[in-house]
Amino acid sequence: MDLKDLRSDYGLLSLSESDLPKSPWDLLSQWLMDAEKAEIVDFNAMVISTSDTSGQPSSRVVLLKSIESQKLLFFTDYSSQKGREIELNPKVAVNFFWPSLQRQIRMKAIATRVPVKLSQDYFLSRPIESRRSAFISHQSSRIDYNELIQAKQAAELLTDIPYPDRWGGYWLEVLYFEFWQGGKFRLHDRLCYELKENNSFNIFRLSP
Ligand SMILES: Cc1cc2nc3c(=O)[nH]c(=O)nc-3n(C[C@H](O)[C@H](O)[C@H](O)COP(=O)(O)O)c2cc1C
Repeated sequence: MDLKDLRSDYGLLSLSESDLPKSPWDLLSQWLMDAEKAEIVDFNAMVISTSDTSGQPSSRVVLLKSIESQKLLFFTDYSSQKGREIELNPKVAVNFFWPSLQRQIRMKAIATRVPVKLSQDYFLSRPIESRRSAFISHQSSRIDYNELIQAKQAAELLTDIPYPDRWGGYWLEVLYFEFWQGGKFRLHDRLCYELKENNSFNIFRLSP
């Protein structure tokens, strides 16, 4: 395989200043709907990057579960690596990439825990198998395989899975959005929204 010779042609769609709604949230919703319509598997999957106290970033995929009052919502284990890093530094980066639409969205955001009631309600709405997995798994801790199987077998005896309070949601308050649309001859469109103090947005274009 020679990666150097791989080249995609872009230019399927374009994005111009005249297409932009005042609010990036409207464009984000539109692009999510387009990704769903295009039948992209896990179109709501986003990469979230956190960093440790030395400044070392780490990235992983999580699923966007909703957008409420201009905040992105996802769920995780608060004691996981990402959870521990967010507690010390709530500044995160988020990325959506939909290759077949030649689109990317980059965001800078601040993560905050959602109220416990919201996490509990969502936890209880999940299928029992997912609740069981969250109950036994202390996400990102080192574990011996046999220990995991034993915990799974013990949890299978439980008829009800209690809500583990180390598990819950984060809201992401987005401060900066960049909408990237692949363009012909690598002249990509990059249109950005930067949140101002009065809650409106500065809109500008970046060179491809
Ligand atoms: C498609 C996909 C969806 C995922 N969704 C979630 C999610 O919503 N929440 C979550 O905690 N982990 C999710 N994961 C697993 C994470 O990518 C990651 O492995 C896990 O959260 C541990 O990350 P950490 O050790 O950096 O905290 C998903 C992985 C993939 C590939």
